[in-house]
Amino acid sequence: MDATAGIVDALAEVRARTLGIVEHFDDAALCAQHSRLMSPLVWDLAHVGNYEDLWLLRALGKPGVAPDVDDLYNAFAHARSTRAGLALLAPQAARRYIGEVRHRVLDTLGAGHAVAGAPAPLVAGGFVYGMAVQHEHQHDETMLAAIQLMEGPTFDPALPGTAAPGGRAGVAPSLGRTPALPDEVVVPGGPFTMGATDAAWAYDNERPAYAVEVPTFAIDTTAVTNAAYCAFVASGAYGEHRLWDEAGRAWLAESGASAPAGWARSGPEADPADAAGGWTCRTFGRTQPLDPDAPVQHVCAYEADAYARWAGRRLPTEVEWEKAASWDASSSAKLRYPWGNRFEAGRANLGQLRASPSPASEHLAGASPCGALQMLGDVWEWTASPFRPYPGFRSFPYREYSEVFFGDVYRVLRGGSWATHPAAMRTTFRNWDFPVRRHIFAGFRTARDL
Ligand code: AVJ
Ligand code: FE
Repeated sequence: MDATAGIVDALAEVRARTLGIVEHFDDAALCAQHSRLMSPLVWDLAHVGNYEDLWLLRALGKPGVAPDVDDLYNAFAHARSTRAGLALLAPQAARRYIGEVRHRVLDTLGAGHAVAGAPAPLVAGGFVYGMAVQHEHQHDETMLAAIQLMEGPTFDPALPGTAAPGGRAGVAPSLGRTPALPDEVVVPGGPFTMGATDAAWAYDNERPAYAVEVPTFAIDTTAVTNAAYCAFVASGAYGEHRLWDEAGRAWLAESGASAPAGWARSGPEADPADAAGGWTCRTFGRTQPLDPDAPVQHVCAYEADAYARWAGRRLPTEVEWEKAASWDASSSAKLRYPWGNRFEAGRANLGQLRASPSPASEHLAGASPCGALQMLGDVWEWTASPFRPYPGFRSFPYREYSEVFFGDVYRVLRGGSWATHPAAMRTTFRNWDFPVRRHIFAGFRTARDL
């Protein structure tokens, strides 16, 4: 495939996704601050276009469309909780702005100008285009997380129109429960290459790749399910102080939490025969029965830590997570996806094909070489690791993507969720957030030393 055509398609696909999300909301809903944790949707909408204005026009030597709005859409200039009070572009003006930017980007791409006058490292392998495509997909997931926090029914994010490769036909049919699976898989000790070896489209924080010796460990075959998490809740774990570390106890006291975000009792008394423990969960404003076989989501890192302690286990480090997801020990090869080096629809629940995680052992064809299932898609997985640079890290192309966030206050998450687009996901991709955050589509799996 011609590289330019691939870029044009990826840009068109992400824009259809963005517009497909915001079209379900009227102007008032787009402009409202629904949560202090999130921007009004109309901010994200214009921000993705402003990012393109900066990186696909001005950084490539082209005139910008609206440099006067840079400050409004600079994430570092205004906290999320204050953005509704800014003189933001109204929804129609925002759509016009990002459309105009895109029009000019496609003009320069079509004429080959972008490559001609542009700084070589930025355009090599289409990097800066991949950066913009991934950036917009990331904001689409952020918008979905904001929508998930809204009161009242919103929309079904899996409606057609929010496209993903393979479309809805790309979701593998449910295989139901697969009782023959082992609870955990062993990852034999030995050398491993951590980080991205295929440079195109990888972020600076995934590089440089480095060799690391990882002692033998075992990791859960699947993410921790709602049924397993219900047992933890039912054991009284939220009141069991020894299961929580100091930060976790502080979070418990402050939040008053007694179950994952969005969970509620379906009745006064739990049915002991119900694997979902009598719980319901709120998904996009609708109360739904909890799927006992699906991974738990909307838990914070402290809840993940406490569960692991309760189970006599621990969270994997991000090195362990990446080795379990990507290492083919038989050929000492590093895989971009758990199943190989090419993305294949139907092997993972990525790309907003549905509005929730699939059952944790549904996608057998997506297994990694060690036998771990669904390392990509469904839910982001909390790891034990703080967000730190790899040895030899160099910021590229700007410090504000990764470098300014390095530090122990952020915890690394891996693997992407049902809301993460495949273009923004690979086994080396690193996400990070504060350990207290529960609004992201995150769960976890556990590990242990052997
Ligand atoms: C990688 C998801 C943590 O949303 O803060 C978006 C991605 N960076 N715009 C974030 C990002 C700049 C980032 N995360
Ligand atoms: Fe951004």
